[in-house]
Amino acid sequence: MKAFIAVLIAALCFEGLNAQCPEPSALQDGEGNKLCARMFEHSSYYYDMSCYGNFLDVYPDEDVPIIPRAWDNRVSSLVVARSCSLTVWSRSKKQGSKKKFSAGIVYHLKEVKQGLFGNWNDSISGYYCTC
Ligand SMILES: *[C@@H]1O[C@H](CO)[C@@H](O)[C@H](O)[C@H]1NC(C)=O
Repeated sequence: MKAFIAVLIAALCFEGLNAQCPEPSALQDGEGNKLCARMFEHSSYYYDMSCYGNFLDVYPDEDVPIIPRAWDNRVSSLVVARSCSLTVWSRSKKQGSKKKFSAGIVYHLKEVKQGLFGNWNDSISGYYCTC
């Protein structure tokens, strides 16, 4: 039983380490270049397990009216770097709803309202990021 619990705890810690949202003040790509934002494929009800799955790095002043196809309506959590802001659109070519995120961690885009009944989970189709 003890061994089982130890394994369980180890597994949870591993998950946590694997999927912790990066701090807005320390957001950089694999080579140490400053990022404007990072968008993640998944989120989780557990805050320290959000920001997992594939991610898309966004550099300062990137203007992408049409998100790559593989990412269309796929983003579920995101982090915006300190002193940067990320504007997103629900349809490509800057159409549909628009939302501006300032620096910080958005663990659950599902909790960010879009219009009266919608939310921003799996809804981003274009973006612009500036610092
Ligand atoms: C976001 O949307 C996708 C696709 O509809 C769904 O699989 C996923 O569970 C949603 N995420 C949350 C946190 O509800």
